[in-house]
Amino acid sequence: MYIWERTDWPDLTWDSAHLAALLGQASREQGRLLGRMQDLGFDLRREAQLNTLTEDVVRSSEIEGEKLDSDQVRSSIARRLGMDVGGLVPADRDVEGVAIAGDLRCSVGRGGVAEDRVPLGFVFALASRRSSTPKSRRTRVAVSDLVFDTLEASRDRGIVPLGSAFPSPTLFPWAKLARYLGSSARHMDPWNTVESLPPGSIDLRRQIARRYLRLGMSIGIEQIVVTSGALEALNLALQTVVRPGETIAIESPTFYGCLQAAERLGINVVEIPTHPREGIDLSALSKAIAKNRIRACWFMTTLHHPTGATASADKKRELVRLLTSHGIPLIEDDAYAELQFSPKPALPAKAFDSKGFVMHCGSFSKCLAPGYRLGWVAAGRFTKEVARLKIESSLATSLPVQQGIAQMLQHGSYDSHLAGLRRQLAGQQAAALDSVRRHFPPGYRVAAPAGGYFLWIECARSVDSLEVHRLALDFGIAIAPGPMFSARRQFGNFLRLNYGHPWTPAMDRAIQRLGEILRRYDAG
Ligand SMILES: Cc1ncc(COP(=O)(O)O)c(C=O)c1O
Repeated sequence: MYIWERTDWPDLTWDSAHLAALLGQASREQGRLLGRMQDLGFDLRREAQLNTLTEDVVRSSEIEGEKLDSDQVRSSIARRLGMDVGGLVPADRDVEGVAIAGDLRCSVGRGGVAEDRVPLGFVFALASRRSSTPKSRRTRVAVSDLVFDTLEASRDRGIVPLGSAFPSPTLFPWAKLARYLGSSARHMDPWNTVESLPPGSIDLRRQIARRYLRLGMSIGIEQIVVTSGALEALNLALQTVVRPGETIAIESPTFYGCLQAAERLGINVVEIPTHPREGIDLSALSKAIAKNRIRACWFMTTLHHPTGATASADKKRELVRLLTSHGIPLIEDDAYAELQFSPKPALPAKAFDSKGFVMHCGSFSKCLAPGYRLGWVAAGRFTKEVARLKIESSLATSLPVQQGIAQMLQHGSYDSHLAGLRRQLAGQQAAALDSVRRHFPPGYRVAAPAGGYFLWIECARSVDSLEVHRLALDFGIAIAPGPMFSARRQFGNFLRLNYGHPWTPAMDRAIQRLGEILRRYDAG
């Protein structure tokens, strides 16, 4: 079998866990390697295909319990490529392959133990030096697979995090949070563990209600249910008002968490066009309501993910009026509300809700305490059912965390942290847009959102963002491809780029590399 391996790694056995770990590490190493191979004129798309094939062959032989020798692996790969086995050049005879190999080696194992090692490039040094001309091809991939792929890439500090869904963890007041968490745990009244069952800690709900009040919104403490992040809030809201087999309206594109929830619960979706600056198309929504039995809408009216669109106040008011007149609940995902750059932030649709049909879902994950898993829903007329569902599904959210965040909101200069965070993100957005302008080929379109940390970029029609995603990963760069955000796998030529990390020369180089990848489509 053939496996990418660092020379200092121990010999291999036919152990699947080891093999999987090895392949994971190998693919990261490979990113660096492929950059050098491209400079030497290799056809990287072909190389990536070969790598996947090698893994396939290794894995399937493992499942079958076969032990393939090097010739068998080589002919199996050649067969799958529909080519002559002679076209695969052993790297130990390929001078360039050896030169590229650096500290990597391809290990050839037989009978359970890695026996002989040949210099890297045996499989990769397929003698093709043509430049890559990827075709526009829609690839059908399950949204969940893509989401998990991108999440996986976010874990790895070695990967340039342009595809990450998270802001840089360095932007948050960890020491302060730890102090408040520690002190609230030390001083916690043990009875609070019972008293704070859903809807949740009274101290935290009071702080959340105070923040609504500052926006001029009067949301009673009794309407707020504390949850483990906005995602739980959204899921509870959805399950409260929609049953499997029923239909909801969602935006297109939309946050993949919404697609996954619908998929998991067996709920049908009607996708409503959403403009990258102005948000949801209300006349399309009206028509969808007339045609379908819509049980609820799940929308992001402010800093929409992924487009960054913020609907006008008039549109939000009209949206609430329309839905209320049909008795349709609005599940409002407002996870990015606190990241609006303007000193006069836009109000959520919930601000126009007089009949309690809007379930407004918020979060501390993006603005204060990632990883603490704290969010809430102001659930209007559905509060009691949402709180019951919370008890049924997870009983409660960690009380020390609720108390610690409540303390932080009350005493911890939350507003000055937010002001700094917004300034930082605004600066990073300007730097990211500047990089994109300098490095991307003409023909792309992007809007500068009024906050958050995502750019939603429409590339030339010929671009296949799923392919760009794979090619970029080979260079150790993550992006989020457009089809992740659509139930029907639309937006094949869109990318979501994250600018939530301090903008370094490495980021600029990564954008340059992406620009190079995108140029190949122009050429093709
Ligand atoms: C639009 C949107 N809603 C909800 C969430 C989930 O937020 P939380 O981490 O608070 O569960 C995310 C996280 O990526 C998001 O982007």
